[in-house]
Amino acid sequence: MTAAAPEPKENMGQPVSRYDAVVKVTGRATYASDMPLDNPAYAFLVTSAIAKGRIDRFGLDDARGVRGVIEIVTYENAPKLKDSKLFSDGGYAGTTIQPLKSAEISHDGEIIAVVVAESYEAAREAANRVKVSYTATAPSATFDSPGTTAAAAKGQNAQFKEDAKVGDFAKAFDAAEVKLTAAYDTPTQHHNPMELFTTSCAWMGDNLVIYEGSQYVYGLKNGVAEQLGIDADKVRVVNPYVGGGFGSRGSMTPRTAIIAAIARRLNRPIKLVPTRDQGFTITTYRAETRHEIKLGASRDGKLVALRHEGAEISSRADAYCVGGTKTTTRLYACANVDSLVSIVRADRNTPGFMRSPPEVPYLFALESAMDELAVKLNIDPVELRRINDTTNEPIGGKPYTSRALMACFDEAAKAFGWAQRSPQPRSMSDGDWLIGHGCAATCYPTQMAPSAARVRLQRDGRTRVEIAGHEIGTGAYTVIAQTAAERLGVPLEKVAVFMGDSDLPPAPVAGGSNSTASTCSAVMMVCDQIRQRLFKAVMPGQSLTDRAKETVGLGQTPATQAAKSDRPLDLEKAFDALGVGVVEEYGEWKPEGAPLDSFRAMHSGHPRLVGGHQMKDQIAYAFGAEFVEVRVNRFTHEIRCPRLVGAFAAGRIVNPRTARSQLMGGLIWGMSSALLEATEIDERNARYVNDNLADYLLPVNADVSGVEVIMLSEQDDRINPAGVKGLGELANVGTNAAICNAIHHATGQRIRKLPVRLENIEV
Ligand code: MOS
Repeated sequence: MTAAAPEPKENMGQPVSRYDAVVKVTGRATYASDMPLDNPAYAFLVTSAIAKGRIDRFGLDDARGVRGVIEIVTYENAPKLKDSKLFSDGGYAGTTIQPLKSAEISHDGEIIAVVVAESYEAAREAANRVKVSYTATAPSATFDSPGTTAAAAKGQNAQFKEDAKVGDFAKAFDAAEVKLTAAYDTPTQHHNPMELFTTSCAWMGDNLVIYEGSQYVYGLKNGVAEQLGIDADKVRVVNPYVGGGFGSRGSMTPRTAIIAAIARRLNRPIKLVPTRDQGFTITTYRAETRHEIKLGASRDGKLVALRHEGAEISSRADAYCVGGTKTTTRLYACANVDSLVSIVRADRNTPGFMRSPPEVPYLFALESAMDELAVKLNIDPVELRRINDTTNEPIGGKPYTSRALMACFDEAAKAFGWAQRSPQPRSMSDGDWLIGHGCAATCYPTQMAPSAARVRLQRDGRTRVEIAGHEIGTGAYTVIAQTAAERLGVPLEKVAVFMGDSDLPPAPVAGGSNSTASTCSAVMMVCDQIRQRLFKAVMPGQSLTDRAKETVGLGQTPATQAAKSDRPLDLEKAFDALGVGVVEEYGEWKPEGAPLDSFRAMHSGHPRLVGGHQMKDQIAYAFGAEFVEVRVNRFTHEIRCPRLVGAFAAGRIVNPRTARSQLMGGLIWGMSSALLEATEIDERNARYVNDNLADYLLPVNADVSGVEVIMLSEQDDRINPAGVKGLGELANVGTNAAICNAIHHATGQRIRKLPVRLENIEV
């Protein structure tokens, strides 16, 4: 075992190498724009130079004169498309701002023309020659800009059902012995996955194939079909590999249906590769947020009152919000809780998911405030969390299915050396560097969604698993292969997995950290159907139905305890008894508490995620604790983060190697999110200024010298058959607070607005 492949603890699978490792490192993995097309035309987007107003006229003569130009599509000649509703209103779209529909402009960088040419270079050249005359009006850019409107999220966003409250906050806060009121800000951040936001569309008669990196092939397939007004069975979305998702490819963007419609009109495949800067406005992003936290506590550290008010930016058209108070009002024991989430509308593109959408900004506020309270109370911040730890969430009183928050704090504190910290700010230094140690909690809801799978087993043990899941870099191929191998008792090398294709059985959106829990539960169930058929063949009269959780190994010792074999079965004998060469099963799995329409919704591309605080008699979350060391230079104020240590408990860890990689990436992004990443907005023009990888700051290896990931053994039998809580979004939560808490410890300065850069250090 190595650091990259940690020794599995109790209830963990093997740290096998990635299923897709070789094709990826040898460059043989085909991403959407790598797919060969027959005589394609190339599209290039023209985007709006104003944020609000209208287009008066296009000057296209110059552009049309570029050799190789085939067509220039604007609102004046664009194919008609049906509107699509926002995903939270039961649609598929990440924005309802539908470009090329009219002369009106809704945001800077909106698509206003598509140039199609014989080559990428010709399309780009012509796009640069498109002249546009606008009548511009002053846009509202962000918080405090004139013209924005604010209203409660409840009532305008169907997925935000309730502002959580319990008890009497006002009275309890008033009477509290110790009080804290503090405001926190988080910045706009933009998706910059390695793979650009490309789309290729090819028609064969009435059938459309879309090659596009997606976290939800069934959603995209159904959404594009709806916009084109055709049967969803005529649309296929293919993407065996996705070069980074993180939420940016979870819902449909407007580019896809436009390109598909133009390809149909021209009767030619079209490939679109937008530029890096266009990615800032043609897809979604993490919007800026503001928070006010009020904490009331007794002198011995017990929370008696907690209020979290959050405000989030969205577009004029759409009421997107993340509403992280669902988590921050339930994390600690407190009898009097109040919360309010508001949406502030500006002339911006609609924001959307970005890794741990609710928890990243909202836990920044809460976990910073907890640290401030600890300082006020003169209580160790870890002990303050212990004092307020709980087995039941305070709003509905429901028990956590399992909760290892303090175990994570203890493990991470030990590994970090927290006991050696001297609590006084500015009390630790090394030459020119002030040293700060800080910590914060993380948590993320355990979510599941209906999923189908097809599994085929041959008599020699070769196994084929088909499921329209998504490999967004997480290790999905690997954990699905491991699950099938374990469940059927066949060697891992004999398992082939097929994903990223909407012609395969439907799987949910690869979002909300639900994929492993959902897809592995479905694969387990379908493998059990196969085992049952084989078992019946050799032992007629007996059934496994009443022993669904028991695994009957098929001729060899399964790798893990979870698949402990008590009745080995001879595969050859079973196939002979059945008289077949192949056993194939299809099955549809749904989690407990899934709504009645779940399977229908699954086929039509609507995920029905259940879990978190929305479970009936319980609440399910994964937990973690993060400790960081920062060093702040006394003279230059340069901030370094030499150590990130996290301990996490997330139910069964199917593969400690891929899990560690997810958690490590999360910690690094969490640090990046605190110290580097922010989209700067030109408030006069409501325009993103640093829309490129030179000016949008990201960490490099030299910024990340030490990351330690500790995975706790945890078994939770109350969540899903796979026992998985999910950890794709767990580790980048709380890191931002831990860093600001460490900066306070290093410098004595409390920073409540992200990102923190050297110009923000005043001491
Ligand atoms: Mo994630 S932001 O749920 O793709």
